[in-house]
Parts: sequence; C-alpha cells; structure tokens
Amino acid sequence: MNIYPEDANIFETSNTDDTSRPKVYIETYGCQMNVNDSEVVASILIGNGYSVTSDINQADIILINTCSIRENAETRVFGRLDLFGQIKKQKPSVLVGVLGCMAERLKDQLLEQKKVVDLVVGPDAYRELPVLIRAAEDGQKGVNVLLSREETYADISPVRLDKNGVSAFVSIMRGCNNMCSYCVVPYTRGAERSRDPQTIVKEVQDLFDAGYREVTLLGQNVNSYHWEGQKGLIKHTVNFSDLLEMVALVDPRLRVRFSTSHPKDLTNEVLYTMAMYENICNHIHLPVQSGSTRILKLMNRKYTREDYLNRIEAIRSIIPDCSISTDIIAGFCTETEVDHDLTLSLMREVGFDFAYMFKYSERPNTKAARHLEDDVPEEVKTRRLMEIIELQGKLSEQSKQADVGKRFEVLVEGESKKSKDEFYGRTSQNKVVVFPKAGHKVGDFVYVEITDCTPATLMGKIVEE
Ligand code: 5AD
Ligand code: SF4
Repeated sequence: MNIYPEDANIFETSNTDDTSRPKVYIETYGCQMNVNDSEVVASILIGNGYSVTSDINQADIILINTCSIRENAETRVFGRLDLFGQIKKQKPSVLVGVLGCMAERLKDQLLEQKKVVDLVVGPDAYRELPVLIRAAEDGQKGVNVLLSREETYADISPVRLDKNGVSAFVSIMRGCNNMCSYCVVPYTRGAERSRDPQTIVKEVQDLFDAGYREVTLLGQNVNSYHWEGQKGLIKHTVNFSDLLEMVALVDPRLRVRFSTSHPKDLTNEVLYTMAMYENICNHIHLPVQSGSTRILKLMNRKYTREDYLNRIEAIRSIIPDCSISTDIIAGFCTETEVDHDLTLSLMREVGFDFAYMFKYSERPNTKAARHLEDDVPEEVKTRRLMEIIELQGKLSEQSKQADVGKRFEVLVEGESKKSKDEFYGRTSQNKVVVFPKAGHKVGDFVYVEITDCTPATLMGKIVEE
C-alpha cells in the first residue's frame, strides 16, 4: 500500500450537516488502509447516531487513527495528543480516542501516560466503538485491542471522506502473514484474511453507480488474496487475478488500481489479466526494500535481487508501458557500503518511476529488533538515504521527460491547486498531469498531450483522441 508519507497524510473528515448529533472529528495518519479504516469508522458512527466534522473545535469526540510503521509516525501522534489535552482543558466533556496500530501496540503506555486518552481501539474492534464511547462517557476507559481472524468489515460501506467523488479505496483484505523482519504490521494488524469477493464487487458497483471512476484495491499484500467459497456443491477459490478480473468487469469506464504487491507473489497470471483489461491501470507498486540479496534474506523478504529483476522483466515484457514504483529502506541492520551500492545499482537497472524511501527505524518486538543489531550509525543511514533520494530524483525526472510529446488518457480528478483554470488528473501509469480545463468536468476521461514537465508533475493540453 502506498503507505507511508506519515509526515504528510493528515486526512480529515468532511462535514455532515446534522447539528443535533454528537460530532466526531477524525484525523488519520499513515497508509491508505488507515484512510479506508477511518471511512469504516465514520460509517459505523454515523449509523449509530453520530455526525462527522472537519472542525476540531466543534468536536464532541476526537479520534486519531494512528500508524506505527516508523518511530517518527508515533512521535507525531504523541505531539497531537498533547494538543488534544489542551483542547480538553477548555472543554472537559470532549472524549479523545486513539485508533489503529498505535492503539494495538501501545495500549498500556497510552492509558498509563496519556491522561487525555479515553478510548483505545485496535484495527479489528471498530464495530465496538459505539459501546466503548458510551463506557467512556460514563467515566471508564473504552478499550478493545483484540485482533480477529475473521473481521474484514465486509458488510460495511465506508463513508467516503475524501470528497473528490471520483476515486475511492476499497479494502480487499486485512493483516499480513509475511513477517518481514523489520515490520510491525503483522503485530498491529494481525493475520491475513481476505474479504468475500461478492461484497467487494458490490461495493465497487455502488461506487461506480455513485459516479466514481477509479477504485484502488487495498491490502498489505494483495497478490496473496485468497477466498474459498462454495457454489451449491462445488467449492471454488478466487485468487487475486480472478478478483481483478471481476472488478474490471464491473464497467469498462471504471479504472482499477491495486496496492501493495509483494514481489514473491506477483504472478504472470496477474500481469496477463492487467494486459487483457484496458481499464486495469498500468502501474505496479512493487516494494524492493534493498538491492542486496544478503540484506533481503535478513529482512525475510523471501526473494533475491535476481528474483526481483526477473519480476521486472516479466512486467516489461507482458505490459510494456507499465510504470513501476517501489519502497526502499536505507541502513537496515548490518548493511555495508557494498549492500547500499547494490540498492543504487538495482534502482538504476530498473529505472523506477517513483519511490518511497525510508531510513530503517527499529520497531520494538519485531524479528529484527529481537535478533539483529541496529548497527548502522544514524549519520550513515542519513547519507545513504540522501544518495537514494538523489538518484530517485533523477530517475523520476527521466521517467517524466520520456512522456513529453506522448498522449495519455487521463481521469480528471479535481481543480489544480495552482490555478482555477486548470485540472489535475493521472495517467494510467499513475503520473500526475496538470492541464487547462477546456470545458471538461471532474470525472471525465480526456486525452492529454504532454507538453512539458517539472520534477513533480507533467503538464499538457487536452487533444482529440
Ligand atoms: N523502518 C523503515 N521503513 C519501514 N517500512 C516498514 N517498516 C519499516 C521500518 N521498520 C517501510 C517499508 C514498507 C513501507 C510500508 O514502509 O519500505 O514497504
Ligand atoms: Fe510489513 Fe512485509 Fe507485511 Fe508489508 S509485506 S506489511 S513490509 S510484513
């Protein structure tokens, strides 16, 4: 999942204009899965008589949906809790709840050290929120961090909080079984479980009927999606490729994206399905983490550098115009300059279109924390990350430059931040394009010829197909 820029993702809920209902403000950190979870939370609460507000000062209940993936994500939330404490001083009736991964990981610490916190609710316990809120209103602490083997919130229609009305996230599975040694997710989100495909298709159909034109199927590792069902006497299984096809068939005018893919599970079958359906976007987010087979083994990624490059070759041959993005961790335990150079050379070899890049951050109780020493000095991690970012900057620019002069179908997603006369949208390859409106509207598909680019954006003009 493009999980990550925990420093940038503050999603707030939008107003539902009902004044008599208690108002809930939700702030979301971390991944797209968390964004989608906040939409599930909003749906549960609205169904139980609450309304949502984007104005924290109006709130009766403040919820913060949190991320534990790196230490700085958690530090930021602690800072927000201090601010909520000040709000509570002025309005003592306000309830403050911590949701998501930090609730799961730090329940005791939150309850002991952060007096401001009334509710601590883990990712599998959101159905309990109305009950827990009532307990908190009665002066108790509302706590539930039980993880479930079954919960997928399959029957809950998330309330779309982004409000662009064009693209939506649809969660197809929860949890993760991979146990990458650096990663806290299997501990905070529990074991992997897939959602009933029929409920996914229905949610997608409802979105399409409501005017949405793009869905992103979400899971920690979408390629291991696996559903077993029974039709009469016949058992049938649905894998990710089958699911992609089912979703693509909802309507050819609906774009389909997905995230995140694990290199060890990305099959040629999925690539052929992508190639077969025009409306499945030609973009794959394929986190590599490191270019060194030795480090990949320590990370427990279950593929080698060569395996990864083999997957890239398969993508290039089956979907020639597919863009590829990745995640990279700099300075994992025992990483040498040779390992780091292998990461840089792999980046060059693949020519990633985009990357999320991080310094390794040791997470308590993970395999790496228990068995490996976090021994790369901070300044070395920083320098290696800088080198990775600098190289990716060049690769991203090359990727954009290569688009100048070409034509792409673009879904109009909204008005450009810089000019009222321009829209922004994305190509199938997930690159952002800005272009003059030319009488079109949000939700339209248009053909855009790329005329220029900045380091972050393509610029173009609408042309006839
Ligand atoms: N330190 C740094 N980056 C991490 N990621 C996951 N765990 C850690 C960690 N402990 C990164 C990986 C993953 C992305 C979601 O976050 O690159 O793909
Ligand atoms: Fe973490 Fe690995 Fe699962 Fe991704 S696949 S959530 S990195 S354990």
